[in-house]
Amino acid sequence: MNPDKKIYLDYNSTTPVDPGVLEEMLPYFTEKFGNASSISHAFGWEAEEAVDIAREQIANLIGASATEITFTSGATEAINIALRGLSKAHRDNGNHIITCATEHKAVLDTCESLEQEGFEVTYLPVDESGMINLNELHSAIRNETILVTLMHANNEIATIHPLKEISKITRENSIPLMSDATQSVGKIPVDVKDLGVDIMTFSSHKMYGPKGAGALYLNKDNKPDISPFITGGGQEKGVRPGTLNVPAIVGFGKACELCSNKMEEDSERLSLLREKLEKELLEMDGVELNGTAENRLPYMTNISFQNIDNTYMIRRLKNLAVSQGSACTSSTHKPSHVLKAIGLSNELALSSIRIGLGRFTTEEEIKTAISTIKEVIPRLKLSMQ
Ligand SMILES: Cc1ncc(COP(=O)(O)O)c(C=O)c1O
Repeated sequence: MNPDKKIYLDYNSTTPVDPGVLEEMLPYFTEKFGNASSISHAFGWEAEEAVDIAREQIANLIGASATEITFTSGATEAINIALRGLSKAHRDNGNHIITCATEHKAVLDTCESLEQEGFEVTYLPVDESGMINLNELHSAIRNETILVTLMHANNEIATIHPLKEISKITRENSIPLMSDATQSVGKIPVDVKDLGVDIMTFSSHKMYGPKGAGALYLNKDNKPDISPFITGGGQEKGVRPGTLNVPAIVGFGKACELCSNKMEEDSERLSLLREKLEKELLEMDGVELNGTAENRLPYMTNISFQNIDNTYMIRRLKNLAVSQGSACTSSTHKPSHVLKAIGLSNELALSSIRIGLGRFTTEEEIKTAISTIKEVIPRLKLSMQ
């Protein structure tokens, strides 16, 4: 393998667009450029039809029906629409929201902003594997609770929350359950009806689709009211008005179809590659797995390298594109809130890296990653003595 070749191992941050997705999108930039809301001519009808097909493909991947899908620009926007919109619409029923400490910043920062508007938020703690305690969830519920929002799979440590068990509790208490499933949709089977989730958010660019498209699922049988915070042309039933990004939506739809077809194969192959990577790295002194080896996504790992600063380490890993954690917080060089929540010290959290594998990761790349890390770490340790 060419030693200068860059190896991408940050698939949880974003994924390359699958060639099959790109091919499907291209005509919608050129000859099929119509506005999906232009109902008076064939250019509009063509775009509208493409959006309908994509909506169907996306709904199919999560066991929903097409009418339950609202297009957004990504998961952050979908989360904001749902959290802010539901809180505003249900304010007369209560002002309490339950979430957990390891959520993505899109949820945590929105909750914080809602707190400034007078809402009360309970942030459930997690154990060392990143799991909430269901009894604690039960106890946190109050008469004023209007929403429980708990992510499906964690974006730093891969822990999967037991949504089916969680929804038993929320349903018993007639509280809507929202889940940020940005990391799980397309990677593991997700069936919203089986899981009992009422609101789900996810994103195209995490599953080999383009950036600029996301989805908000709203359960039609238990539909929570959402007051839109964007106003405009009434698209997406007024929940998210604005001209639809047709090429991105077409790509998102195709990406979902490909994920349905390739999920099993990708999952089996990538789990084996991750196993190999983890086995080799965990043999080294002072190297530990963060989180849990069970109930987690099959494509990623988070590992700490005692006494080695992760920024320094990542710089030395040169051609390996790995990350300190979430892309949204990696510019700050603060210890990850997720790793702190599972009990790591500041120092150990700042000695951890996330390695994310994906559809285009090869065995050869993993072998190179292992040998590069095994070569660099002892040298770093020596230089730090
Ligand atoms: C768990 C999780 N939620 C939300 C987001 C935000 O997604 P988007 O980039 O589509 O806004 C991300 C992306 O990093 C994520 O991993």
